[in-house]
Amino acid sequence: MTNTDKTVVVLGATGQQGGSVAAALRADGWAVRAIVRDPSGHRARSLSALGVETVRGDLGDPDSLRAAFTGAHGVFSVQPNSGQSGADVTDEDEVRFGAAVAETAGHCGVAHLVYNSAITAGSTTGVDHLDTKNRIEAHVRNLGTAGTIIRPATFMELLVTPATGLDRGHLSFLMRPDQAMQFIAVRDIGRIVAAVFGSPDRYAGRTMEIAGDTLTGNALAEHLTRAAGQKISYSRLPTTPLAQGEVLGKLEALVDDGRLAGSSDLDALRAEFPFLLRFDRWLAGPGAGLLAEALRS
Ligand SMILES: NC(=O)c1ccc[n+]([C@@H]2O[C@H](COP(=O)([O-])OP(=O)(O)OC[C@H]3O[C@@H](n4cnc5c(N)ncnc54)[C@H](OP(=O)(O)O)[C@@H]3O)[C@@H](O)[C@H]2O)c1
Repeated sequence: MTNTDKTVVVLGATGQQGGSVAAALRADGWAVRAIVRDPSGHRARSLSALGVETVRGDLGDPDSLRAAFTGAHGVFSVQPNSGQSGADVTDEDEVRFGAAVAETAGHCGVAHLVYNSAITAGSTTGVDHLDTKNRIEAHVRNLGTAGTIIRPATFMELLVTPATGLDRGHLSFLMRPDQAMQFIAVRDIGRIVAAVFGSPDRYAGRTMEIAGDTLTGNALAEHLTRAAGQKISYSRLPTTPLAQGEVLGKLEALVDDGRLAGSSDLDALRAEFPFLLRFDRWLAGPGAGLLAEALRS
């Protein structure tokens, strides 16, 4: 059987990671079925143009999951998270959605489930919107069906959002200027997931931390200065004593103790996934448009 004979159902395909996964699976010849809330929306229509089958469904509607999973070989599971700007979900929603996907995949006889977790999921962090992933991972591990858990590092895309200050020639982020943190391009998450579905014997049962580059704040500034053609400086996001108890302070503490900074073996990952982009290559490629937008925002 070739990939073309098998269907992978992709959640969140109108979003960043699901979109990247759908595109990479199509490029590898899989039949892809995307569960979307609005099949007539422009993002769903872009998926159709890629040859993706779009079916109406909702993570909160198990019947729609069951209908979409029936007959599928694989499912890519990603959920919205309360920590994202504009998200209209609670932490309990996310866990309920993630558990429903895993359980329904099991009931429908799906052969391979890939769950998109987070780099911090190895331990309890005290940040509720990160600890949701630990709870969903437990559901995936308890399944009878084969599962792969991927834990992506922080997205490179987060460094060039209009909110990071680049339009003023400055970047503020979570690490100190001399402190290293790992990042990954969203494009590469899709390519890794496609590789995982392509080699189930190799990846079923594995939990994998994934990243494409390790960068200090100072290195980020150097890369951004070169790519932007103008001086970009760097400083750590300021936290107030009050913020220490709040999410930003907790996130910086998780960078300091290494859990959010990431510790993937990049040489081993690059040997396995040679396409992984370093930040400079990402800035010159998939990130170029985002950087230009952030500079002029
Ligand atoms: N490592 C990092 O740096 C990082 C950064 C950001 C996020 N994350 C994690 O990534 C996850 C989100 O992934 P993402 O950023 O790729 O997503 P995203 O771009 O925010 O898109 C969310 C996707 O979920 C879909 N969705 C939302 N509610 C739904 C529902 N009730 N039923 C069905 N689909 C629904 C949306 O569909 P519609 O088009 O219908 O809205 C959209 O496709 C979160 O769990 C978050 O913790 C990690």
